[in-house]
Amino acid sequence: MKIDILSLFPEMFEGFLKTSIIKRAIDGEVVDVKVHDFREFADNKHKKVDDYPYGGGQGMVLMCQPIIDCLKTLVTPDSLVILMSPQGQTLKQQMSQKLSQYQHLIFICGHYEGFDERIRDYVDIELSIGDYVLTGGELASMVVCDSVIRLLEGAIREASHADDSFSDGLLEYPQYTRPYEYDGNVVPEVLMSGHHENIRKWRLKQSILKTYHKRPDLLEERQMSEEELEILHEIQKNN
Ligand code: ADE
Repeated sequence: MKIDILSLFPEMFEGFLKTSIIKRAIDGEVVDVKVHDFREFADNKHKKVDDYPYGGGQGMVLMCQPIIDCLKTLVTPDSLVILMSPQGQTLKQQMSQKLSQYQHLIFICGHYEGFDERIRDYVDIELSIGDYVLTGGELASMVVCDSVIRLLEGAIREASHADDSFSDGLLEYPQYTRPYEYDGNVVPEVLMSGHHENIRKWRLKQSILKTYHKRPDLLEERQMSEEELEILHEIQKNN
């Protein structure tokens, strides 16, 4: 996959691209990430990228020209152009899975008050990472890139994300590692049993239990299997 990011603050991405799984994915050519400072595309003498809003009001608005000219050097028929904005649809795991299927993602990160509305004509989707306002789209684009890159083949072991929270509409079951006892708390006996079917059933029940208590909205959206419905009914009876 190829990822291009348009930002006025490329330095914000340095730590992100040089650390841990993302660095490994770049080094292993699983993904190629380039950050472009669209100020370099401003066609005015002072490299200005924003201007006062027509009609008056607070703050500055990002102009079309630098962003669109930068975008035109990158876009191909395989590209998906994503505008990061609090007005976009909220990122969910399903969207990350969908994005991970593309050959080329282009992210536009705004800063300051907002974009000239006409920039939206050049965009395929608008994404938000939640109902709060950040100082710019940079952190938000890193969140999206992180959740997409880890799904790419070769980024992490395939099995590592099969059980992720949300990957099948449920929260992940509880995990334990050594020591067996910590501060008087011991690991559930079933996990020590080596009995794979009992472990599978226990984990499924724990996933449903966690989702029931923490994110009941997810259960409403989900098509449950017969086995899962049985577990859910038992949980509902006992609560
Ligand atoms: N830019 C500013 N706030 C944002 C948010 N919540 N999501 C995506 N981009 C943003």
